[in-house]
Amino acid sequence: MRQWTLEERYRVLKSPDEIRDLHDKITASVYSQNYHVQPVTGLSSDPNGFAYYEGKWHLFFQWCPWGAVHGLKYWYHASSPDLVTWENEGIGLSPDTFYDNKGCHSGSAFAKGNDLYFFYTGNHRDENWVRTPFTCAAKMTEDGKLEKLEKPLFGPREDYAEHQRDPKIIYVPEKKKYYIFIGAQTLDKKGTALMYESEDLLTGWRFAGQLNVPGYEDFGGMWECPCIVNISGKDVLIFSPQYTTLPGRGNSTNHNVYFIGKMDYDTLTFTPEGDYQYLDFGFDFYAAQCAANVADPDKAILVAWIGLPDNHYPTEEEDWEGSMCLPRELRIVDGKLVQTPVADIASLRTGEAEANGTLPKICELEVSFSGGDAALDLFTKADGSGGFTIRYDDAARKLTVDRTGMDKRFNEKVFETLDVDMPDGLKSISVFIDACSVELFLNGGEKTFTSHIYPTADEHNYTVSANGAVKIYTLGCSVENNFVV
Ligand code: FRU
Repeated sequence: MRQWTLEERYRVLKSPDEIRDLHDKITASVYSQNYHVQPVTGLSSDPNGFAYYEGKWHLFFQWCPWGAVHGLKYWYHASSPDLVTWENEGIGLSPDTFYDNKGCHSGSAFAKGNDLYFFYTGNHRDENWVRTPFTCAAKMTEDGKLEKLEKPLFGPREDYAEHQRDPKIIYVPEKKKYYIFIGAQTLDKKGTALMYESEDLLTGWRFAGQLNVPGYEDFGGMWECPCIVNISGKDVLIFSPQYTTLPGRGNSTNHNVYFIGKMDYDTLTFTPEGDYQYLDFGFDFYAAQCAANVADPDKAILVAWIGLPDNHYPTEEEDWEGSMCLPRELRIVDGKLVQTPVADIASLRTGEAEANGTLPKICELEVSFSGGDAALDLFTKADGSGGFTIRYDDAARKLTVDRTGMDKRFNEKVFETLDVDMPDGLKSISVFIDACSVELFLNGGEKTFTSHIYPTADEHNYTVSANGAVKIYTLGCSVENNFVV
């Protein structure tokens, strides 16, 4: 694993020519994605500034140009008419002011009238590397570029730790106010969110208080990337708690969870209807964000980073890593969150392949099971050995995903095997395979499982238990990943 100096990680990008060769490495990689948004070079992490605006979806993500390393972060911009076909638009935000001198960190967007606004964390560090996080704003100009406001909306609070970041903006019509949720850490190192309010988008911001989530006063050490969305009249609070292990999540200390409940803006209290839930049960899923300005009140659109902080992936050797997951539709059905890939994803199908035990390189599998124990082993060798195994134990109502059989193993100390409780049994699995990712939608999206996967040339077969019926669709390419910087 390459060791990076601080200077290398925080180098400022002066010209696209400096990274052209790095882009060639991604283009040449067998693990370069085909229908998932990925970086032009280096590392992509959290989705940012996701919104629907004037007939287009705008998605930004955290981007470090120099390699598979977390360093100086830019916002990289991609756009799409349909959440399936994506075009690279180049850099959205560069760390080029006093307030964001060491990174334009995560944040959100909001379209109002004819304008699209962005709210992000300016990660300022002084010469002693002491951090001051500022909440900054920007606006999209007519040529699609982002123009920053000269001054931040507000700075950090001194009665909380330096971890105050990732503004999520929403408008609450009943209160005629905008609110910003900020992921934070208390001085005694507990995760929380801070709330700010204003009648205007760009002025008048005041601290409203700390978000209360009764029962969750001591839940992880930092809540990264808070997000709140209303679906069919219920509030869904999403965030990524870290610095703690959680049941069933191996040794990982980075998670992405949600609650369904009710947000009371008078008392700043989110009352959950039940326990927290994992947003996704896979090995690599973090920092999910819902798009702003989705017109349909019964659904939200969500994107997350396929990756986890602190983890390392085999493409580090090629100086890049990370991608976005497929955009998902979130609905509430019978009081539960259901996630499905956006409907237009079906337009990517180029044909049906024979279900003969071979996996096309990029494909979708629809597997239905008729009951009892079940197995679906993906990326096995020709003799059926190895692979990414999905086994369902009907008596225990538990599904186990195990990737220890793959040639390329990674993050072994974090986890390689994970369980998913399936109280209603296993009826179906939809599988989306791209060059370095696999996404499972279980029982029509009741639960999901997202992971990186790096199959070698010998690992392109599958086996399924006798009670499983498989349909395979080959998929086309919808992300060209042109070199636009
Ligand atoms: C989450 C995160 C955010 C931060 C960003 C920096 O992965 O740590 O809290 O804004 O990444 O890249």
